[in-house]
Amino acid sequence: MKTDVPVLFAEDVIARRVAELGREIGEALAGREVCVLGLMKGSLVFMADLVRRIPLDLTMHLVRVSSSRDKGQGRVLTEIVYTTNVPLDGRDLLLVDDIVDTGITLSYLLGHLYEHGASSVKVCALVDKPESRKIGVRPDWSAFTVEGAAAEGFLVGYGLDWMERFRGLPYIGSIPRPGAP
Ligand code: IMP
Ligand code: MG
Repeated sequence: MKTDVPVLFAEDVIARRVAELGREIGEALAGREVCVLGLMKGSLVFMADLVRRIPLDLTMHLVRVSSSRDKGQGRVLTEIVYTTNVPLDGRDLLLVDDIVDTGITLSYLLGHLYEHGASSVKVCALVDKPESRKIGVRPDWSAFTVEGAAAEGFLVGYGLDWMERFRGLPYIGSIPRPGAP
């Protein structure tokens, strides 16, 4: 028995959208040696499905970023805490992200990847929440855009967690935002 989290995007809806994205990405990156870089852990399930729908010979890598709030100045400190041996120099990367929310994580990672010699970085996110953006970055592709009333909930499942729970749900569900009244 898993849980009874209300469904926002059902399994079949996700599967159709992932297949569509795979085709689009395959066309956009045709002829390149693509290195897929998954942002752990939230994008693991999405990445596993997506790579099987991209009709290109690609390599797979992982990166993990940790963000914490600096108590003194209130800044968000972002750092890379784990990465597989990613070949960056002159590479065409496809960064697979779970949720682009404030954009802080994505903007930090893009800066890092270009600084270390990536020749291009395309971004495919599972969910884009454009209304929460604090830094002006946007994914090249996103499976779903969540805005308005739907953005008030906290998304879980299909790799997304709340305190490490719910990652194994086969669909994307929405729970009341933790801490909301
Ligand atoms: P940001 O764009 O730097 O604010 O960070 C986005 C990260 O916040 C994502 O990678 C998620 O780990 C987390 N996140 C934001 N919104 C949600 C949500 O609704 N459910 C689960 N995780 C979320
Ligand atoms: Mg998370």
